[in-house]
Amino acid sequence: MSIAKQLITPVFSRSAAHQKRAHEIIPGGAHTYAKGDDQFPAGMCPVIVRGKGAHVFDMDGNEFIEYGAGVRSVTLGHGYGPVCDAAFAAMTGGTNFVRPSVIELKAAEKMLEVIDKADMVKFGKNGSDAVTGAVKIARAYTGRDMVAICGDHPFFSVDDWFMCTTATTSGIPEWNRQQTVKFKYNDLASVQALFDQFPNQIACIVLEAETVELPVPNYLHDLQELCHCNGALMILDETVTGFRWHVGGAQKFYNFTPDLSTFGKGMANGFSVSALCGRREYMRLAGIEHTDRERCFTLSLTHGAETHGLAACIATIEAYQNLNVCNTLARQGTRLKTGLQAAIDQAGVNDYFQIIGRPWLLFYATLDQSKQRSQAFRTLFIQEIMKRGILAPSFAVGAAHLDEDIDRTIEAVGEALEIYKLAIDEGVEKYLVGRPVQPVFRKFN
Ligand SMILES: Cc1ncc(COP(=O)(O)O)c(C=O)c1O
Repeated sequence: MSIAKQLITPVFSRSAAHQKRAHEIIPGGAHTYAKGDDQFPAGMCPVIVRGKGAHVFDMDGNEFIEYGAGVRSVTLGHGYGPVCDAAFAAMTGGTNFVRPSVIELKAAEKMLEVIDKADMVKFGKNGSDAVTGAVKIARAYTGRDMVAICGDHPFFSVDDWFMCTTATTSGIPEWNRQQTVKFKYNDLASVQALFDQFPNQIACIVLEAETVELPVPNYLHDLQELCHCNGALMILDETVTGFRWHVGGAQKFYNFTPDLSTFGKGMANGFSVSALCGRREYMRLAGIEHTDRERCFTLSLTHGAETHGLAACIATIEAYQNLNVCNTLARQGTRLKTGLQAAIDQAGVNDYFQIIGRPWLLFYATLDQSKQRSQAFRTLFIQEIMKRGILAPSFAVGAAHLDEDIDRTIEAVGEALEIYKLAIDEGVEKYLVGRPVQPVFRKFN
């Protein structure tokens, strides 16, 4: 019998006891805010014991089909054999040495084999390291301080230059807020307005190739031209798009050559590896051989070249190349999107629940009776799918999602949307058990 049909209300008592202790010794009860208890329905905060493929198992013995694994970093499935084997083999030969190991060049060659529009690459551990490293190079190259970010894209880095633009600014010196300005996606005039307002002050612009809104024709190319006309660099943040749109990144997908680009999630199937890639003209400033310009000290991390991470990265890229993983993500994502849309139609909630984005990275919008974004309805939806064995803050498919997993998900969502419809008609408070989930970026708890 399918998980969707069982509907034995799951118990989370062991996870709850574990989290109580976690909050005493870990601020936030988790090392990543996006995984926090406040992101899940009250009393339904599973602590994961292990994962296999697209499934995870929690402390109370509940099993879930999971989407968005590891904040979307695990794309081949949990415990994916070839990646684990490669990492283990590297690890047993030593993880970190006094000098570079041979795998550093091997991984760099592999990365530039797929990101073929870049001349050089430097590895880090998190997407934030790489994006901040790119900003630093742009500032060094241009001799300017300001950064223009796309205000329609949710996140670029945990570092102050970006976090100062969110609601969560405690601990960030005020002066940062003068250095980072925002432009609108698909709106060249909003970028031109910034260049006019701050002449010769903006070092770079930072954006993703796309999130849920697609670029208008030639947008990326035109934007880069605008940047260059104004003496600024264009940084393409491919932390998410990197190994989902194409193994060569969204830059390959759109036949576009950014000045600098950054990668992270999905590079090593959950192992900690990120990359800053780009044109030699800019990247060389981070080198130790040039004498014509000042040195730019960027991305120099103790753990930056851990052998097992880089081995995992090589094995992950090989899987993408040999198994055409992006095609699998597109196929399974399309199956899911089509089925979810049918479930939405069937439940008659088109005005209140929407599936958005590319098939390989789907999001859902939860709206209330007045068609406004609603955290309470989001929580209700998560509550109902979790009861049916689905864990999905978004619907980011992985290569391990089988047809059977997708079909079970569609079935569970169909049932959850029946409850959602009742809540639209009768009030969400009648069906939502606990408090609504909270935005990650907020000033106060
Ligand atoms: C587009 C984008 N850039 C950068 C980052 C930062 O990556 P990390 O959390 O690995 O530091 C994220 C993380 O969610 C992201 O979505």
